[in-house]
Amino acid sequence: MAQLSGKAAVVTGGASGNGREICKTFAREGADVVVADLREEPRQGGTPTHELVADAGGNATFVECDVSKRSDLVAAVDAAEEFGGIDVMVNNAGIFRGEEFLDVREEGLQQFLDVNVKGVFFGAQVAAERMLDSDGGSIVNMSSIGAVRALGAYTAYDLTKGAVASTTYSLADRFGGEGIRVNCIMPGIIGTAMTEDDVPIVGTDHGEQYAKETIPMERFGDPEEVADAALYLASEQSSYVNGESLVVDGGVTHTG
Ligand SMILES: NC(=O)c1ccc[n+]([C@@H]2O[C@H](COP(=O)([O-])OP(=O)(O)OC[C@H]3O[C@@H](n4cnc5c(N)ncnc54)[C@H](O)[C@@H]3O)[C@@H](O)[C@H]2O)c1
Repeated sequence: MAQLSGKAAVVTGGASGNGREICKTFAREGADVVVADLREEPRQGGTPTHELVADAGGNATFVECDVSKRSDLVAAVDAAEEFGGIDVMVNNAGIFRGEEFLDVREEGLQQFLDVNVKGVFFGAQVAAERMLDSDGGSIVNMSSIGAVRALGAYTAYDLTKGAVASTTYSLADRFGGEGIRVNCIMPGIIGTAMTEDDVPIVGTDHGEQYAKETIPMERFGDPEEVADAALYLASEQSSYVNGESLVVDGGVTHTG
């Protein structure tokens, strides 16, 4: 039985990487999907996510959305009305740059805060407003293991992911009694444009060596594995899970 049949989901950053796989997995499990992203084309090429879902017989629509603008997030959630109203919000959109702490300046830090923190804060807010007016729902925020352990001195990125985790716990408390569960995922290093192009580690010799030496499972993760975690948190399989940060990292956080 499909785990999300009859549900409508909004996935920010759904054009590429983890978000794209989340959209595909949700659609396979019966959800109608709003892909909310700056761009339609996946960062690493291929058929746009909403077209891929439609080709596979699902319902999906694309909304151009910059998560740093609250009004764009409202438009993305509005688009789910076409599918009966939002049930699941995945605040996944995020950016990463390999900037060392001492090199960060105001503009760069602001950009991180605008996308990774403000995007999740207001994404959760606009989704919760609608969910309170309906049957509740599930909000899944994309944090990172960078929230709980150092992976290089990517301090500006890590602080945003810590903020995503604390936002998650606070909202789990705020809405737990009103039928809205709020959880986050903390992925380890996953093969996407972020880790293959922006700061290349996956698919490189030094990366493979690092994975073998450092990660108990001796490999990096796949976006499909993050998508399965999102499916769990979005669906009734996790009906008593609220305020959780689900680590998906091959074991590195608790063993390294
Ligand atoms: N890849 C990893 O190793 C990893 C690890 C931990 C956490 N994450 C998190 O997973 C999430 C997805 O990352 P990914 O690896 O799939 O990256 P990605 O770059 O492959 O995909 C990110 C998507 O977000 C979109 N996006 C960027 N800024 C946006 C904005 N302002 N508004 C709307 N959309 C925007 C991009 O266009 C892109 O489609 C991010 O929050 C990232 O921090 C990734």
